[in-house]
Amino acid sequence: MTAQLNPRGDVAVLVPAAGTGVRLGPGAPKALRPLAGEPLLVHAVRRIAAAPSVHTIVVAAPAADVESVRSMLAPVAPVIVVPGGAERQASVAAALAAVPAGPEIVLVHDAARALIPPDLVESVAEAVRSGHDAVIPVLPVVDTIKEVDAGGRVLGTVDRSALRAVQTPQGFRRSVLTAGHAAAGDPLTDDAGLVEKQGVAVVCVPGSEHALKITRPFDLALAEHLLAAGA
Ligand code: C5P
Repeated sequence: MTAQLNPRGDVAVLVPAAGTGVRLGPGAPKALRPLAGEPLLVHAVRRIAAAPSVHTIVVAAPAADVESVRSMLAPVAPVIVVPGGAERQASVAAALAAVPAGPEIVLVHDAARALIPPDLVESVAEAVRSGHDAVIPVLPVVDTIKEVDAGGRVLGTVDRSALRAVQTPQGFRRSVLTAGHAAAGDPLTDDAGLVEKQGVAVVCVPGSEHALKITRPFDLALAEHLLAAGA
């Protein structure tokens, strides 16, 4: 099977899915945990593949699970599966290295955000297509945020109006993401952080509540509920 979805698409989506997911409790690697009977990764890939601009999907799987992930995803969508690394950043770099010639827009989407709406893939890609080098989906921060010391003592209150919670998919002009990873130092928790260090302007687009990151058991229960409600 070819690893190509829409041959006229201009977007490659990298899906880091090699994390262990210790915060979900003991069990399989997080991306392979079931949500309504199917692994999180299957949900994520199916939704990404439904976005019309997507040309290629590259999944970074736990090294021990590459073959099983390949078989698992074969009926879902044509995908390239590579072994991930010890850190998320290494998993993204491995996936990026496997993108074939063609797509000039690269999105990075965490498998843990399994209910990604295809429209969000399109809106991030469109913002890159319209000329931005780096684009992140964000939501306003609803809680009051305090800075605290190691002993739990409050040091101060942060101005929440200037803060945003950042989701994925994050989108980049391909050359910008490649340069960011080539220059990467200590692992960061997102890809926009890498290109920020290169002085690249990163712009925000509206995120989606449905793109929540499934990290703890409560998130899994919430995602099950959203799916049952038609998400
Ligand atoms: O660890 P965290 O929940 O922030 O992981 C975000 C995403 O990065 C998840 O989809 C996870 O599977 C992925 N990841 C990875 N390789 C690692 C660690 C995390 O692909 N070594």
